[in-house]
Amino acid sequence: MQTIISPSILAADFACLRDQILEAEAGGADWIHIDVMDGQFVPNITMGPLIVETCRGITSLPLDVHLMIEQPENHAEAFVRAGADYLTIHIETSPHIYRTLQWIRDLGCKPGIVLNPGTPASSIYSVLHLVDLVLVMTVNPGFGGQEFLTPVLSKIAEIRRRLDEIGSEAWLEVDGGITSETVAAAYQAGARAFVAGTSIFKYPTGISTGINALRKQILP
Ligand code: DX5
Ligand code: ZN
Repeated sequence: MQTIISPSILAADFACLRDQILEAEAGGADWIHIDVMDGQFVPNITMGPLIVETCRGITSLPLDVHLMIEQPENHAEAFVRAGADYLTIHIETSPHIYRTLQWIRDLGCKPGIVLNPGTPASSIYSVLHLVDLVLVMTVNPGFGGQEFLTPVLSKIAEIRRRLDEIGSEAWLEVDGGITSETVAAAYQAGARAFVAGTSIFKYPTGISTGINALRKQILP
């Protein structure tokens, strides 16, 4: 299975977002990760559909949109219309998760489910067959630049086993604290898509070198 590197623009320089995204694309990024935060579900406020639309105009790479918002069902359509390719919602935010995931697919988008470090793997088992992406948070969501939570590795492995058991081809993605030191452990646990903000956009010698440093650790 191919591996995916999904740079998170949360760590980009927004004064030159276009250049930063194009540099990531030229450096071998597979997707672009967009972190949407509402100041309710997580303490921080970041971007909305307007930024997704802006990114859509800059790159044809798949846009991997991570909604850290309450009541995602109220906003999903706006993000799909703005150009999201993957739209990922937190299990903790939606009592009607089954319906919302189905609806995202009906809108023509690839639905994803995400869970916080403290949320057990079993909480998403009933909807695994509905999704194209499972995102496991390896930090508490809200901010970039945090440290990778090693105890989450066993949950990644558990979800990998479950996806294989049901024959799912959904991507298993990790997000938070992914660096050249932590990416290999997440790969060994079974992740195949890797979100990274700080270790790409703030890499001392540039974006493409940051991508290469990660890629080197997960080459077969
Ligand atoms: C955290 C976000 C992440 C964040 C990752 O709430 O979901 O996508 O941008 O940033 P780094 O790679 O710096 O931990
Ligand atoms: Zn994210």
